[in-house]
Formats: sequence, structure tokens, C-alpha cells
Amino acid sequence: MTDDRVREQYEAYPYPPRDPRDETKRLIEGSPSHRLEIDHYLFAGQRDWQLPFRALVAGGGTGDGLVMLAQQLADIGCPAEIHYLDLSHASRNIAEARIRTRELRSVTFHAAAIEDLPRLGLGEFDYIDCCGVLHHLADPLAGLRILREALSPEGGIGLMVYGELGRSGVYPMQDLLRMLGENDPAEKRIETAKRLLRQLPATNLFARNPVLGDHLQAGDAGIHDLLLHARDRAYRVGELVALIDAAGLAPTALIEPWRYDPASYLADPKLLTPLNALDRWQRAAAAELLAGNLKTHIAYAVPKGRATLAVADAEDPAAVPVLKDGNGVELARGLRPGGKLTVKADGYEARFPTSTGTGPILALIDGQRSIALIGALLAEQDPKRWTPVHFAAEFAATYRLFNALNRLFLTRAR
Ligand SMILES: C[S@@+](CC[C@H](N)C(=O)[O-])C[C@H]1O[C@@H](n2cnc3c(N)ncnc32)[C@H](O)[C@@H]1O
Repeated sequence: MTDDRVREQYEAYPYPPRDPRDETKRLIEGSPSHRLEIDHYLFAGQRDWQLPFRALVAGGGTGDGLVMLAQQLADIGCPAEIHYLDLSHASRNIAEARIRTRELRSVTFHAAAIEDLPRLGLGEFDYIDCCGVLHHLADPLAGLRILREALSPEGGIGLMVYGELGRSGVYPMQDLLRMLGENDPAEKRIETAKRLLRQLPATNLFARNPVLGDHLQAGDAGIHDLLLHARDRAYRVGELVALIDAAGLAPTALIEPWRYDPASYLADPKLLTPLNALDRWQRAAAAELLAGNLKTHIAYAVPKGRATLAVADAEDPAAVPVLKDGNGVELARGLRPGGKLTVKADGYEARFPTSTGTGPILALIDGQRSIALIGALLAEQDPKRWTPVHFAAEFAATYRLFNALNRLFLTRAR
């Protein structure tokens, strides 16, 4: 399979399809490359965003990660320099129009492949985003090594690759559609795919997989990307961790963390105890096998042997907790004291217990106050209840849950 076929596909069907005019209405936010995640999982929550920040978006496509990162950095006045790389001109045109609509000035566009990066001479990056790209490369490890080489020794990377189990049924469909006319023109192949989708037997693995929706939501580009891709593969957690390791990187997180914890799916201690005894990434691999619905894996990673701490430390009283979706007061209002929190993801519904202190703590999280200040304010309100020991335990429980849910991060005071 040649790279030309991958390029041709993304010239004809830029993915995901986006209309630059929508930039006036909404900002698409996600993972990887949310600024709060980058700060928390790659810069120990200590990044000074007033300093210059060099980022590369490798295989930036129609621009989702690029636009989010550029906008979030502009919003906090970060002197950012962002380089976008993609081999599809059609995708780049869309990404460029989105950036123009937002009047963001930090981005430079390059029409090139990741494999060309060494000869572009772009220098070292503090952060590299590579979302949904490695699994399309002829040699994903070679591609990741190239990105690793372009990282500053104290920098980090955010990756997304397909997850094998959540995509169950996709590859048999791809095989079948190749049998039905591998060399037909793309439009004809899409028609064939639509016809086939209407007639799938109920036992077909793809038909039985409820978590896949790109072929329903993203039009012809979605059908092409999912079922007719020129080249894609999927990873189990263990394979992704091995890929990251072989590229000279060390993972710092899988997002969202709760989905990679067996305790999110099981309560029986007889089953949980041996799984909890596994190392962190094996535990994550077990959670993947249990859940069966992870269709992508999002990971952050840093160069092996990096000198500085990567992940923020919730025991640092000077750290500033910050919520991804804004306001802690509102979040606290929606919580019954000590009630359960329901979270849904790809057909699975988890219920997590909260503690009576969660609401009062969340209500004081504003992205400015440090952990220590929040503890002091609560102690002022009710010194008998909010002793330092009680606060430490309640904060730890609140942090553990909301960080696992990918809603709470640590940063530094601005
Ligand atoms: C599924 S899209 C993902 C786009 C974007 N990162 C996102 O998350 O929305 C994959 C992109 O990778 C690009 N791509 C594929 N192989 C590439 C390569 N070798 N070098 C650079 N880009 C590549 C494609 O052109 C396409 O735009």
C-alpha cells in the first residue's frame, strides 16, 4: 500500500469534515492537546504560559486539535509558535480557513509528511500533537521516533491511536469491502458500503458494535475513514505502551483515566485484588479487556529520562486546582452531598460515590486558589469540621475522582 493512497483519500475526503464558518459559533475541545491536560500531564502543572511555547501538530488534518490549542494559548496570552503539518492540501485548506476565521496569528502551515520533518529544519518543540495519524503510517514506530527526535528534552507529546476492541467489526468490514471492489473509484466504494450497511445480517460484528458512529455522523468522509481506509490499524493498550517505549518515550497518562481502571467496571474484591496488584499499564490493559468499548487510546508521553517531573503532584499545597468545564460552584450545586456521580461513555454507565466534602471543595475551585488556600477558607467557615487532616483526605478523594474523570487538573497560580 502506498502513501499516495492515504494522501489521495485525505485530498478527496478531508477528515473530520469541518466548515470554517462554524468557528464563529463554537470551539471544539477534546483530547489530546487541551492546554490543561498538557500542563498537568507533561509540565507537572508548573508551566509558565507567559514564556514562549513551540508546538507541532503532526498530521493536523482539518484542524480540530490545532484550532483548540491555538485558541486556548491565545486566550491566556501565551506567546505561542505552532507548526501544522499534513500531507493533504485539502485538509490544510480547511484548517487554515478555521485559523483565519479566528484571527489567530500563531500558526505556520507546512504541506509535508511526518517522514519529511527532519529535513524541514523546524527545530525543537515543547509539545507535539499527533492525533489519529500514527495508525495510518506505513511504519508507525519510525514516525513516532521522528517526532521524538523533534521534541525538546523537557517537552512532551500527546497521541491518539485507534483502540482494537472498541473497533471490533471494523476490520472484517474493511476486508469485505475490499472484496466488493478494492479498485473501484472512491464514490462507487462509498455507494457499495452504504448498500452493504443497509443489508448487514444482525450477527455481523460491525452491526453488533454499538460504539461506532462515524459512518452515521460524518457523512461520506466518515464512511470512507472508517470502512474504506487505505491503511489503518488499531492498538491494544500493551501495544501502544510498547510503541511509545520503543520510540524512546515514557507514557505519563491514558485519557480518560477512569476508563483505564478496572475498579470502574468491577466491585468484587476477589477479581479486583489481583488486577490492582498489576503494574499501572497492565491494569490499564485489563480495564480495556473488561470494558471492550475503547475505540481510541489517548496518551501523553515524555522523553525517557527527562530531568523534570512530568505529572502534577496533588500533594503540593501550592498547586492550583482547575476544572475543565469552568465553574466549580455549578458542579457542586448538581451534586447531592455524598451522592453518586453517574458517568457515561460509549454505552457504559459508571456510578462513582462522592464524599460529603466534595461539594464544598468543588465550590471553591476557581482556577486561581491554591489547594492550601481552599483548605484555609473551609477551615475559616467551620474549623471543627475542616481540620487539616480532614481536608487533606477530602481533597485527595475529590481530586482522585474528578481527575480520573478528566475534569480536574492542577496548574500554577497566574
Ligand atoms: C484522521 S485525520 C486526523 C486529523 C487530526 N489530527 C484530527 O485529530 O482531527 C489523519 C490525518 O493524518 C494525515 N496523514 C496521514 N499520513 C500522514 C503522514 N505520513 N504525514 C503527515 N500527515 C499524515 C492525513 O492527511 C489526515 O489529515
